[in-house]
Amino acid sequence: MKKVFLLLAFVMLASLGKTYADEGMWLPMFVERLNYTDMREAGLQLTAEEIYSVNNSSLKDAIVGLSTSPSPSGFFCTGEIVSDQGLMFTNHHCGYDIIQQHSTLDHDYLTNGFWAKSLDEELANPELTASFLIRMQDVTDSVMQNVSDTMDGQQRSAAMREVSSRMKKAASEDGRYNVVLKSFFNGNEYYMFVYEVYTDVRLVGAPPSDIGKFGGDTDNWMWPRHTGDFSIFRVYSAPDGSPADYAEENIPLKPKHYLPISLDGVQEDDFAMIWGFPGSTDRYLTSYGVNFNLDAQYPAIIDLFGKKLDVWKPFMAADQQVNIQYASKHAVTANTWKYLIGQTRGLKNLAVADKKIQLENQFTAWVNANPERTEKYGEVLSTLKSSYAMMADKIEPLLYTSFAGLNGSEIVGYALDFSGLYELLKPIDKKELPKDKDMAKKMKDEREQQIKASAEALLAEVDEHFKNYYAPADKKLLATMLNEYYLHVPVNMQTPLVYQKFNEYKGSFDNYAEEVFEKSVFAEKQRLVNFLNNPDFKTLDKDPALELGNAFMDKMMKASGEFQSAQASLSESERLFMAGLREMQSDKVFYPDANSTMRMTWGTVQSYEPADAIQYDYVTTSKGILEKEDPTDPEFIVPEYLKTLIENRDFGPYGENGELIICFLSTNDITGGNSGSPVINGKGELIGIAFDGNWEAMSGDIAFEPELQRTINVDIRYVLFVIDKFAGATNLIDELTIHKAVPQPLRTETVEM
Ligand code: ARG
Repeated sequence: MKKVFLLLAFVMLASLGKTYADEGMWLPMFVERLNYTDMREAGLQLTAEEIYSVNNSSLKDAIVGLSTSPSPSGFFCTGEIVSDQGLMFTNHHCGYDIIQQHSTLDHDYLTNGFWAKSLDEELANPELTASFLIRMQDVTDSVMQNVSDTMDGQQRSAAMREVSSRMKKAASEDGRYNVVLKSFFNGNEYYMFVYEVYTDVRLVGAPPSDIGKFGGDTDNWMWPRHTGDFSIFRVYSAPDGSPADYAEENIPLKPKHYLPISLDGVQEDDFAMIWGFPGSTDRYLTSYGVNFNLDAQYPAIIDLFGKKLDVWKPFMAADQQVNIQYASKHAVTANTWKYLIGQTRGLKNLAVADKKIQLENQFTAWVNANPERTEKYGEVLSTLKSSYAMMADKIEPLLYTSFAGLNGSEIVGYALDFSGLYELLKPIDKKELPKDKDMAKKMKDEREQQIKASAEALLAEVDEHFKNYYAPADKKLLATMLNEYYLHVPVNMQTPLVYQKFNEYKGSFDNYAEEVFEKSVFAEKQRLVNFLNNPDFKTLDKDPALELGNAFMDKMMKASGEFQSAQASLSESERLFMAGLREMQSDKVFYPDANSTMRMTWGTVQSYEPADAIQYDYVTTSKGILEKEDPTDPEFIVPEYLKTLIENRDFGPYGENGELIICFLSTNDITGGNSGSPVINGKGELIGIAFDGNWEAMSGDIAFEPELQRTINVDIRYVLFVIDKFAGATNLIDELTIHKAVPQPLRTETVEM
């Protein structure tokens, strides 16, 4: 007996010493109440007020939500302010699209990197915005006053929209702030977020892709990693410090807070927290939802994205111009494709559905134990089950119409941008014309004006579209996507046009695509410009790309209508399931799913065991860069000068015992949208930039796996090494506040670099 007891105590101690919070993306507003004491114990040295404060500057003021909208409701990535001049770090893959937009064959910043040596060399980005959270507020009570239990999903969202617009108006302070209302815990709670949005954000620096994307799609979502996944921007304000669109007179932002940088590096078990804007997780998904994803949803998307990548690849490899044009589209598609493959694998390997079933059985027993609960929650699981079954029946045509049709080849989606013009060009029906001659003329004149305005607006976008467009690749893609559509969607559920063309072209979608590209005005820039200078109805009416677009659009409307009715009961049941779970596990502190609002996650620097007998270290070093080098593989090329620096062990102040640390692992709970987030030590200093998750736990968005799930971060010392030693951009280093602990007596100093 005693032995067992001792062993147990030992196991408990060992686990106490090792695992801290890890799971949970916490709302900063509640950090003091829910997390602070544990965080202190784990190594946090800041006060709660230094972390999140509405009245004083605090850590949250250095965290930036990145978007391409001037009034965003969500963010594609996170950035952090690192100097009193508005300098911002994020990931290379977050800046990738922008770096690509600025790249040409002559100025190929994707390949060669980009470094502004002074403010006037920084590059403007009209669409990029940087949002700072001013405050957040629980508005559940106000929202709930407007909704009742008898409302269905649609009525609920209408009621919510109504409250939301009222609150937004009040909180926006005459448009100064962007106010966003979000639902939490599947519609059981509501919070309001007030942001200040800066719209002048300039590109300052980016390493060559051979550093920023080293390892490419092969290493993506995997450890061990050796990627310098960072890029640098600067937020600008009007001279008075307020947000302003790009203007020459704008000045670098004077931030409320910026992160100092630590050169002390990481040790296993060190405290680490990550702040940012995780996009979306589904931690409370039921087993029915998991199986729906696995069986009905993911296979189609994996199939179509994989085919798309296969089509693009040879065109990109053959021509550097095309390689630049398609770089960003390819990266985004490849990233999602691999994510879905990894998630499928993870969900199966880790038997996630089985674990969900256990919880659901527990739920059912709890519900059945009490008549009031049965009344309230008795139907929840069976409704979820039947809703998913109905959706599974309807989803295939929807997915293929969307991903093979409307969003398959680019020409189809682009043609649909012209639907408005097409409607305007339709000859006015005689019956619609007023009898009165003058009135009739007025109507016709008005229509002419509208046509002119529409054509001009479309003309203004033409360059932008064709800049990143290569028709031969898209032609091949059209044939491939139509073929997939034809093969996968049951004939009676297809749009008749595809079936008809299949017969007409004797089964060759290649020949049909040839015809489409020969005839369509959307296939070639000059053709389209000529048309827009003199638009006529007939051209669009017989355009084969628009014909396809319209056919798919038609199908989409029908298919999504059917799908939505199956979906309608789902959201209400999900809300109830969530409410029931929280009631059942009333001792547990629940954290809300990610929804593109600011979150904090804390944990430790930690290694892991991906499989039996394999132990992964928690850091990678420059040695691995040389080991992975392969001059014949574009994903594993090491820039000559980087190699020289590594071979000479020329790491400057950024090395550690003669070695350069490249990336490290931590147990933080993050997801897409957290990319670019700061990894911060107990003293509030920046020690890394988060950029990825690991292959063995790709089911993490649905179920957190404490033993396996890790965040992959680029070590801040590698970032500074690349800026300083590799690129020689010492102007940027000079702006940073760099800390290094000095032993004996132990203290922290700001060092001049
Ligand atoms: N997997 C990373 C994420 O979703 C993106 C990594 C980009 N790198 C790449 N090789 N595509 O945040």
